[in-house]
Amino acid sequence: MTGILHRMGYQTIDVRPIAGALGAEIDGVDLSQPLDERTFDAVHRALLDHLVIFFRDQTLTPREQLVFARRFGGIHLHPFVKGLPDCPEIMPVIKEAGDTRTFGSAWHSDQMFTARPAMGTMLYAKAVPPVGGDTLYANMYMAYDALSDSMKDMLAALKTFSVGDRFKQAGGKSRAQRYAGTSKMGELLKDPGNVQTESAHPLIRTHPETGRKTLYIGSHAQRFKRMSDAESAPLLAFLKTHAVRPEFTCRFTWAEGSLAFWDNRCTQHFAIGDYDGHRREMHRITIAGDTPF
Ligand code: SIN
Repeated sequence: MTGILHRMGYQTIDVRPIAGALGAEIDGVDLSQPLDERTFDAVHRALLDHLVIFFRDQTLTPREQLVFARRFGGIHLHPFVKGLPDCPEIMPVIKEAGDTRTFGSAWHSDQMFTARPAMGTMLYAKAVPPVGGDTLYANMYMAYDALSDSMKDMLAALKTFSVGDRFKQAGGKSRAQRYAGTSKMGELLKDPGNVQTESAHPLIRTHPETGRKTLYIGSHAQRFKRMSDAESAPLLAFLKTHAVRPEFTCRFTWAEGSLAFWDNRCTQHFAIGDYDGHRREMHRITIAGDTPF
């Protein structure tokens, strides 16, 4: 796929890779305006080629961000966090200067714990700290391709079992207790007990648009289906470490008005929590995805 798309080029936009593994900045697009079909197709192709794309200096209302997001599909509402009052499809991700917890500060793929995890996530920077608060991304095609043939054969039949709240599963603090008084990422939507937060998915999934195989793993994966915790732990630990080897990653430094859009089907990401004492505010929209296969 990548080869074909590169040969087609991007006629209406300027696409500049930011690392060897994944990630590209796109210039020449004002996301507050409706995109014509050619420009939208080029942006979509850039996402499939580069896995995470970045736009700078955008001025977007919640509605304008939503209009752009909807070009990629329906909106995946977070199962247990409320969105903005006037635009519920947008989930605020806010860390106040006094907060110590950083939302998303573990390698993960969004909503892997749901039956139909989010296809993509769009994050728009409203306020950023003077330094820090970068986001890391990792390429899960590369993570899969780098495995030996024997390991690939062995993993082919496995499914991971993911949960949205491992503390709940472990009998520790509830989700409400964990979020209270720390991050203002959004009010809890329902009692955590009422929402489905557990799912089993193929460890090796096929990207529905590119047809390529990808290692589908992240911090939500707790064990392999039909294996005990003890049996799962060594292989899970190896794969979680392998998947985010530095040469599979890129790092994005935000500025106010930056927008990132990543493909959760073939990436993981990690929000770096290195800016205590400063405020960071992002507007997040997740796009609905398919049942992984
Ligand atoms: C997330 O995991 O969606 C948040 C990423 C970030 O805040 O950089």
